Amino acid sequence: MRNGVLAIHRDGTLALMNEEAYRIFALTPRPGDIGHPFAEILRPRPAVVRMLGSAFELSHLPNRAELRLKDLDRVIGYTLSQVRDDRGRPIGAVLFFKDLTQVEQLEERERLRDRLASLGEMAAGMAHELRNPLAGIEVMAGLLRRQVPDSKDAQSLLADIISEAKLANAIVVEMLEFVRPVRLQVEQTNLAEVLNQAVTLAESKAARGRVQVSIEVEPGLPMIDGDHHQLSQVFINLVVNAFEALEGEGRVGIRAVRGDMEQDPAFTGEPAAPIPAVVIEVADDGPGVPAHLTDRIFNPFFTTKVTGSGLGLAIVRKIVDAHDGRIDLNSSPQIGTRFRVTLPVSSASGWFK
Ligand SMILES: Nc1ncnc2c1ncn2[C@@H]1O[C@H](COP(=O)(O)OP(=O)(O)OP(=O)(O)O)[C@@H](O)[C@H]1O
Ligand SMILES: [Mg+2]
Repeated sequence: MRNGVLAIHRDGTLALMNEEAYRIFALTPRPGDIGHPFAEILRPRPAVVRMLGSAFELSHLPNRAELRLKDLDRVIGYTLSQVRDDRGRPIGAVLFFKDLTQVEQLEERERLRDRLASLGEMAAGMAHELRNPLAGIEVMAGLLRRQVPDSKDAQSLLADIISEAKLANAIVVEMLEFVRPVRLQVEQTNLAEVLNQAVTLAESKAARGRVQVSIEVEPGLPMIDGDHHQLSQVFINLVVNAFEALEGEGRVGIRAVRGDMEQDPAFTGEPAAPIPAVVIEVADDGPGVPAHLTDRIFNPFFTTKVTGSGLGLAIVRKIVDAHDGRIDLNSSPQIGTRFRVTLPVSSASGWFK
């Protein structure tokens, strides 16, 4: 990762600003920039202007401090130092900085992984403990049913007990599925098949009603190295969510096209060329996800539904991660919800777990 460097004179004019600095601040270099007041050049970045403005006022300048550039959604780590002449009088200031956004995102992912790991252990333990008594309830209610064949009331109560126990068991199974580490059976996978299957299976899990579904696959879309079964789980969950959001009325559009994927500099060390990928979008024109919830919907057990377990998207994310893919979300009440899954075409990187 390269450093941004920016230097100013005591009179507030810009002495130097390197390419990386322009990039991080999302500004375009212009010929007259050097010698121009820095406050004007950096006007779109008022936080930086304030920070540089303090260079000659503060007695202790920040060393390895962090600054959040809100409008760019970026974090920089910086050190600000004064430049002095022979007699020790400040004649300028230099700012060294780095874009920490990616580092921060990696740390955030790491924290999430740790949290999920401990949560997962607990959930796995609970799920195991719960399975036996639940199976017991189901079996014994079944036995009791045979003993009271003539009582209608008892029959219907017992039927309810059995179906509730089945539901609880299904949640436990899903929970186990979620906490189990993903083991991929990687094969050459045809996404068109995966998507068609996923829609059929989603229809058996949620009421489709009059919802129109379209699947559009770019001709000649490459096969990808992936786990056919697990990838269907991804799209079943997304399509089921869309059906549930639409409540019987609306459209679901699924599109798969070629794309590419930036490589994670944490793995490659240096910025590397993007790798070939397939981008699959699952969009619905439903009510959308409220902005304040978009960060939370991938969390295990987060649900806004009465009967939801909130594991659907957590599982989706886990499977996509295991494929070294990405998933992101675009949603608004006007357009609905669009999930975009990006999967690398080839697992040649050997990162598959
Ligand atoms: N297409 C969508 N449109 C609107 N909201 C959505 C959509 N997809 C997901 N959500 C929101 O995200 C939440 C979490 O989804 P997730 O699939 O993880 O759990 P769930 O559907 O509630 O339960 P489960 O999938 O376990 O049955 C949902 O409760 C819903 O609020
Ligand atoms: Mg769901």
